[in-house]
Amino acid sequence: MDELNKEKIENLRRQLHEHNYNYYVLSRPTISDFDFDALMQQLTELEKQHPEYYDPNSPTMRVGSDINKNFIQVRHRYPMLSLQNTYTESEVTGFYNRVKRSLNEDFEIVCELKFDGTSISLAYENGRLLQAITRGDGRQGDDVTANVRTIRNIPLVLKGDDIPGYIEARGEILMPWDVFEELNKEREAQEEPLFANPRNAASGTLKMQDPKVVASRKLKSSIYYLMGEELPSDSHFENMELARKWGLNVSKAMKKCSSPEEVFEYLKYWDVERKNLSVATDGVVLKVDSLSQQRQLGSTSKFPRWAIAYKFNAEKALTRLESVSFQVGRTGAVTPVANLEPVLLSGTTVKRASLYNEDAINALDLHIGDMVYVEKGGEIIPKITGVDKEARFLIGDKVQFARRCPDCGTPLVRNEDEAVHYCPNSEECPPQIKGRIEHFVTRKAMNITIGPETIGLLYDKGLIKDAADLYALRFEDLVNLERWAETSANNLLASIEKSKTTPYERVLFALGIRFVGETVARKLALAFHDIDELGAATVEQLTSVEEIGDRIARSVKDFFENPRSVDFVDRLRAHGLQFQQSEETMAARTDKLAGLTVVISGTFELHSRDEYKAMILQNGGKNSGSVSKNTDYILAGENMGPAKLEKAEKLGVKMIDEKTFLEMLGL
Ligand code: IVH
Repeated sequence: MDELNKEKIENLRRQLHEHNYNYYVLSRPTISDFDFDALMQQLTELEKQHPEYYDPNSPTMRVGSDINKNFIQVRHRYPMLSLQNTYTESEVTGFYNRVKRSLNEDFEIVCELKFDGTSISLAYENGRLLQAITRGDGRQGDDVTANVRTIRNIPLVLKGDDIPGYIEARGEILMPWDVFEELNKEREAQEEPLFANPRNAASGTLKMQDPKVVASRKLKSSIYYLMGEELPSDSHFENMELARKWGLNVSKAMKKCSSPEEVFEYLKYWDVERKNLSVATDGVVLKVDSLSQQRQLGSTSKFPRWAIAYKFNAEKALTRLESVSFQVGRTGAVTPVANLEPVLLSGTTVKRASLYNEDAINALDLHIGDMVYVEKGGEIIPKITGVDKEARFLIGDKVQFARRCPDCGTPLVRNEDEAVHYCPNSEECPPQIKGRIEHFVTRKAMNITIGPETIGLLYDKGLIKDAADLYALRFEDLVNLERWAETSANNLLASIEKSKTTPYERVLFALGIRFVGETVARKLALAFHDIDELGAATVEQLTSVEEIGDRIARSVKDFFENPRSVDFVDRLRAHGLQFQQSEETMAARTDKLAGLTVVISGTFELHSRDEYKAMILQNGGKNSGSVSKNTDYILAGENMGPAKLEKAEKLGVKMIDEKTFLEMLGL
């Protein structure tokens, strides 16, 4: 009977692995998304019923388990070296000649694209993904296996029967341009800092604590080297072709060259063609093909002598600075933007570039009418990197940072030790008001379906002065607006009505209290179960919540001390928004840990650290980050840090494992 289920599970896993490969590696799916989901659903159900057949490499594990492990540092079996960079053809010729002289025999050079992400080492044992480690310092890196399992084009199980017992596949984790742009758009809407380029976004994502979030970020991999004692071929090129057959994603843009001319041809071709790729590249890697020749050439402590990187020139264009404008965001921060004479740069027309802040402008000594260099070096927002002072003919006005808010005319302020200018008129400055309403309605806050244009229109017509006014909108107000029909009016009203059921923690986030992002809002909601309790909390009470520091605590206090905010909250409350924890969350609250301080340390099997933190708060306890004489318990997982262990022993703090902890809570 059970054998049957085991077989069913294995069969489904096999099918799904195959479909994943067809879809993500070959880009040739042979099944509809619907049928794929149905198979996945079947497997998920069966696995739930038969936990005895648990397999960390099952296709169902891709979605990311929410068990969150702190990263553990792991030593690389083979060090991860970096590459020497070169920038010119003559440096490439130099490399070629050095290799020729050293080897004194024929050799071939493999040219590959240098994808711009973050490096990873994937260890496969008997064809199964064992461990994924970041480069770290080259000798040891972070174990990010749980996160890497969510990356779709990394096979959890290799295909084929000629796979060595142990191999390490080295490669790059990448975030495709479109995913990167989408992510930044979302972050901009949340006023979260933007990622400068896909590389930062990929490495930031890989280091996140929650594999579920990693899974949502749609990372990719590209494999560029195999390591192991029993590699199938002496040719790197052939090994890569085999790796592709095993299901690893290996770029097709590889070429074996037998002369420097062939290498240059490759460089020239890809310098142009790379702009059409869906991922960022920053150069080409040249490798001696034969592994025995690679060994013969050896490495320095940092770089192999058998490979180099050739970096493409960052793309630059020269154009005229026409004017500088200043934009005001939701928090009042003012960003200078350069308006340029349109110029073509990496296939797109650039009209605007970011100027960051006053210091950046002064450092460039910018004058209106200057010819400026714009660059897109892997970054999505072009930046001005220099001025061609020779081209100055008639020198224009020196660019000055705005003194007054471009929208409301209020004098701007710049705090000492900060580079940013603010418009302090947060109550009346239109872009700040509109920005706050835009934040209020975003998906992760109240999730009301209304765009910035409509918000602007309603604000300009005097129909809304803040987000609370949305709840007072009537059908007649909307249907008479230009180009509005009954359906759109009804849809908006329905969406506004529906938002009244949004849980307390998201309402807290929607309020737009400075420094209170999604996570902080969740923490506050857990610790202070209704808005009145939160409003009355002292700075000390606020900072006693894990990860709430002085800056956030002060900002929360400022918010509730402002009569306007109090009025705003009261009006929202009158409209029926949720300002307290739901019944279920409340019902789960106990005082089993009242008066007790618990430190969490190590990694856990049954719940994530965040879940344990939430449990401590839910049961009236306090969670602290460091061991002191005030610590009552250490909830100790595996691999607890040695410093904490020593301190705990010295202070005689009681250590409990996760099972004991759950028993204490009656779970
Ligand atoms: S080979 C010893 N090949 O570039 C061989 N690296 O600057 C080391 N990279 O850390 C790497 N594409 O993360 C190699 N086709 C490619 C690559 C590549 C991107 C990255 C890699 C490495 C860095 C070195």
